[in-house]
Amino acid sequence: MEIDIFTLFPDWFEWLAEQRHVRNALAAGTRIECVNFREHTPLGAGQVDDTPFGGGAGMVLRVDVLDSALRARYGVDPVRLREDRRVIALTPGGRPLDDELVCELAAEPALTLLCGRYEGFDERIIEHFATEQVSIGRYVLSGGELAAMVVCDTVLRKLPGALGHEKSAIEESFSPALEGRPEYPHYTRPAEYRGWRVPEVLLSGHHERIARWRRERSHERGSPGAPGAERDGEED
Ligand code: ADE
Repeated sequence: MEIDIFTLFPDWFEWLAEQRHVRNALAAGTRIECVNFREHTPLGAGQVDDTPFGGGAGMVLRVDVLDSALRARYGVDPVRLREDRRVIALTPGGRPLDDELVCELAAEPALTLLCGRYEGFDERIIEHFATEQVSIGRYVLSGGELAAMVVCDTVLRKLPGALGHEKSAIEESFSPALEGRPEYPHYTRPAEYRGWRVPEVLLSGHHERIARWRRERSHERGSPGAPGAERDGEED
C-alpha cells in the first residue's frame, strides 16, 4: 500500500514512522511519504492560505496551492486523480472513521491524505480534488495532521505483518469477528492482586467456555457500531 500525506508539517510524521507496527508495515512494502505543499506553492514567500471571502476569522487553504502540489506529485490534473485513488480530505465534519471505514481503506492499494490547517480547505478542493472527507471525531483539531496519523495507524495495523500477532487485528473491538462490538476484557498475571481475582473461567483452559465468556462480555459492553451502547437496555 502507498500512502501520500499532503501537509505543512512533514516532520511530525517521522515519529509515526518510528512506531513498531508502522516500521513492520514499511518493512513489508508499505510506503508512506509526505508532501509539503508549501514547497509547491505558485505564490510568493511560501504562501499557502488566504483570508476567507465574505469575511470571518482565520485563514483558508488555497485551491491553486493544492492543485499545483497534487499535480507536481502525480503529474496529472488532480480532478482526474480521483479516478485512480482515494483522495481524503481530513475535516471535522467528514465521514466518521470507524472500523468499517478503516477496513475499507486498508484494502486500497493507494491513499492520499490532505491535511488542512487554520480554518480548513477552500471548498473547491473538497469538491474537485477529494473523493471524500473523513473525520476522527466531532471536535476541531488545529489541523488534519493528527487525524492523518490516526488514519495511518488504524489502517496500517490491519495490514498483514504489521502486528506481531495476526489475530490481534482480527478479533478486536468493532471488528466483524466481534460483530462490531467492543472487545471483551483482558487479564494477565498475577491471577490475584490485592484480592482482585481474574475470572476463574480464564484460568480453566476450557477453550469453548472461554470463548463463550468472552462473547458474553463483549455483548454486555455494547451493540454493533454504537459507542456507549454498554448502557443498552438500562433505564435512564
Ligand atoms: N481537522 C480538524 N479537525 C478534524 C477532525 N476532528 N477530524 C479530521 N480532521 C480534522
